[in-house]
Amino acid sequence: MRILVTGKEGQVDTSLQVLGQKLGLEIIRIGLPEIDLSQPESLEPPVREARPDVIISSAAYTAVDKAETETELAQKINGDAPGVLARLAAELDIPILHLSTDYVFAGDKADAYTEADMPAPVSVYGKTKLSGETQIRAATDNHVILRTAWVYSPYGNNFVKTMLRLGETRDEVSVVADQHGCPTYALEIARALLAIAQQVVIDRDPTIRGTFHLTGQGETTWAEFATAIFKGAEKRGRKPVRVNPITTADYPTPAKRPANSRLNGDKLDDTFGLRLDPWPTSLDDCLDRLIGPKEEDPS
Ligand SMILES: NC(=O)c1ccc[n+]([C@@H]2O[C@H](COP(=O)([O-])OP(=O)(O)OC[C@H]3O[C@@H](n4cnc5c(N)ncnc54)[C@H](OP(=O)(O)O)[C@@H]3O)[C@@H](O)[C@H]2O)c1
Repeated sequence: MRILVTGKEGQVDTSLQVLGQKLGLEIIRIGLPEIDLSQPESLEPPVREARPDVIISSAAYTAVDKAETETELAQKINGDAPGVLARLAAELDIPILHLSTDYVFAGDKADAYTEADMPAPVSVYGKTKLSGETQIRAATDNHVILRTAWVYSPYGNNFVKTMLRLGETRDEVSVVADQHGCPTYALEIARALLAIAQQVVIDRDPTIRGTFHLTGQGETTWAEFATAIFKGAEKRGRKPVRVNPITTADYPTPAKRPANSRLNGDKLDDTFGLRLDPWPTSLDDCLDRLIGPKEEDPS
């Protein structure tokens, strides 16, 4: 099976490459400089040439704060390019899997968001990602849109790597404690994407198309997540680091972020029989890869 993936150096595209290779799947990644999603027409030649069985649309403009001022660029990459890719998938009569985000929601719901909840993004990034969803739905029914959140991995840039870097030089780090969400491991996203890709390539059943939520099991806050990262690092020989919990108001950013980013994964489980590992299990795997295994307990 030939799987075309957009993105070359990102967290999810690299995870797809790593896992796909292990599973003996042919992963063809396309990214800068051969294609530039800000010029969506650049997608056409490499996609046609690759003759894929399925497309995974992973690449995105992910600089959430910068997007507030680079609105047009973010819209081209996150909104228009997925639309072009979906129209190409429709022409080639193949399915497209696309990654979207918890940031399509306002974050003011008390419970975890389901696929039936109405999106109402509060940032430019969220609005452009929602535009990508809309353009894909308009282009082809043969799509699976997967909204994920708080992505981390051994690859690219992410919160776990930032905390580990800060912990090298500081004894205390201030982290926001009033945003709630589900940390999601990119290698787990890749596991789910490859399983779904294999199903939708062989089965045209419309009930395995549509929009789904895909996050690590469990929920936490950024401050609790940071605490777990530093505890895990300490068990692997790093020095202790304290987390000072602060509020969103204490840490103003150009883009507004949802206070509640929790996504309900029941539909994904009911439809594909897929549930990602609990986030602490995945965090352990990520720290093993980034730092090494836990040190032996002397007791
Ligand atoms: N990260 C999160 O917390 C998070 C949360 C929810 C949803 N998501 C979604 O999940 C998907 C994967 O996220 P990720 O964390 O793997 O993203 P990432 O690590 O930031 O990687 C983004 C990828 O997109 C590529 N890219 C950016 N601009 C491009 C352009 N103009 N042309 C071609 N390629 C371009 C990047 O290439 P370069 O490295 O060369 O720039 C990189 O390979 C995205 O669709 C994102 O919106 C992410």
